Amino acid sequence: MEKNLAGRNAVVTGAAMGIGRATAEVLAERGARVIALDYNEAKLNELIPIWKSASLDITPMQCDVTNAEAVASAFKKIGDIFPKLSILANVAGVVRYGKIENLSEADWDFQLDTNLKAMFLTCREAVKLMRANGSGSIINISSVQAMASQQTVAPYAASKGGVISFTRSIALDYAADGIRANAVLPGSVETPMLRAAGEQFNPSDPDGAMKNWGALHPLGFLIQPRDIANVIAFLASDEARVITGAPIIADSGLLAGLGV
Ligand SMILES: NC(=O)c1ccc[n+]([C@@H]2O[C@H](COP(=O)([O-])OP(=O)(O)OC[C@H]3O[C@@H](n4cnc5c(N)ncnc54)[C@H](O)[C@@H]3O)[C@@H](O)[C@H]2O)c1
Repeated sequence: MEKNLAGRNAVVTGAAMGIGRATAEVLAERGARVIALDYNEAKLNELIPIWKSASLDITPMQCDVTNAEAVASAFKKIGDIFPKLSILANVAGVVRYGKIENLSEADWDFQLDTNLKAMFLTCREAVKLMRANGSGSIINISSVQAMASQQTVAPYAASKGGVISFTRSIALDYAADGIRANAVLPGSVETPMLRAAGEQFNPSDPDGAMKNWGALHPLGFLIQPRDIANVIAFLASDEARVITGAPIIADSGLLAGLGV
């Protein structure tokens, strides 16, 4: 693989599983030094020998990205490891299904805090290290749910719509510093999050449920975590130097159809 990110320092959130893990790995394969943030320390620890044996320069760091103090303290440590930062990929996210009358305030806060507030917390730390670098690329994971919706996902959809607006706004605020910010909108990606949805909606056949969702995408298959990681790696690279403030749809064609 071309090492087009050699010499770049990167932080990836939600890096213990799914799209975040794939992103940490793809960025490292392309030559970046990566700090992998996640609140699931046990899962991060399982990955240490895997990353080591693959000679990937990925340093795991436990951090709950919804907690302002934890994020500030993690970025202090990150600043000690590398004072200049090129790439921040905000991938951590959660979903809880239900119509709003069946959801609690805690359900709302859990999703908005993880999917949106955490980006405010990490980005405001990251831009300082990116300014020291002279440039940077922030990639925030949104979802197709920001543009078209399904039933029982109102807080999740609201958080993902917020990601696009937030990202567009910081793209303008930091353009003069050479910092780009883009949102990525994936369709259905085969990850532990999607498997959990399959188990909830079709407990007797979660694999079948996921396969069916994949078939609903015009390209006809479930997206793999590395497919989204590759889009993130492109946005992180100089090849994307004129792309900022953009919602980048990566959905196997899902949003192209009316679905009727
Ligand atoms: N899987 C899909 O179909 C899909 C589609 C569109 C968008 N997305 C988005 O992509 C992102 C990644 O999704 P995924 O499917 O890989 O999810 P996943 O559940 O498989 O992995 C999410 C990771 O985020 C971590 N995380 C959650 N809350 C955290 C917190 N407070 N602090 C630190 N780490 C935390 C988890 O421990 C986990 O490692 C999410 O933002 C999700 O909303 C996923």
